[in-house]
Amino acid sequence: MAEDELLRGVREATPGAGLPDIGVSPTQGALLALLCRISGARRVLEFGTLAGYSTIWMARAVGEPGLVTTLELNEDHAAVARRNFDAAGVADRVRLIVGRAADTAEQLITDGEEPFDLIFIDADKPSNPVYLEAALELSRPGTVIVVDNVVRRGAVIDSTSSDLTIRGTREVLALLGADPRLTATAIQTVGSKGWDGFALARVN
Ligand code: SAH
Ligand code: DHB
Ligand code: MG
Repeated sequence: MAEDELLRGVREATPGAGLPDIGVSPTQGALLALLCRISGARRVLEFGTLAGYSTIWMARAVGEPGLVTTLELNEDHAAVARRNFDAAGVADRVRLIVGRAADTAEQLITDGEEPFDLIFIDADKPSNPVYLEAALELSRPGTVIVVDNVVRRGAVIDSTSSDLTIRGTREVLALLGADPRLTATAIQTVGSKGWDGFALARVN
């Protein structure tokens, strides 16, 4: 799986559209797509849409009968993402929900949403523990949970960090490791976005 013209255009236009350049790298996008394919995922949930770069990778991987539900707080990001979903021809298999992800995920739980097959957590890092708990409520045995940015150029090993981003990430890693409902590990990635990593978990 390689990044094609469409995805490259989306990635390169993101900072130009005034959005932060914090989407996953091409190789991480390919890894997300591969994890969707390996797990046979048809229903994906994403926390943090930005311009929809990772969303498009996963929307392609879930195929025609699939659905990616993606949660985004920022209206401007959502507007750019909607345009990108149209351009990519995946708008019919993406459901974009605007609002605080803690609230919109809670709404999905209240509405009795069917469990998701794969969940990608990539929004505000201090909320990662909250998102993990919501993800567990929206899962079934076998659901794959992926958490982005768990290495941060090594910054995550600093147990004394007062940075709320690092603390949220450290906390979610501890929860992933200790929770009897999960089997988890983490992998480092190196590429065009530098040194970072994904936590990977399977719901028991
Ligand atoms: N998954 C994207 C990148 C997401 S960047 C990709 O790889 O292409 C993180 C996104 O989370 C940003 O768009 C930001 O606006 C959004 N975000 C931040 N706080 C949020 C919140 N409380 N609820 C939902 N989204 C939030
Ligand atoms: C940031 C957030 C991300 O999700 C990411 O992949 C890289 C950077 C950030 O907020 O700096
Ligand atoms: Mg990220």
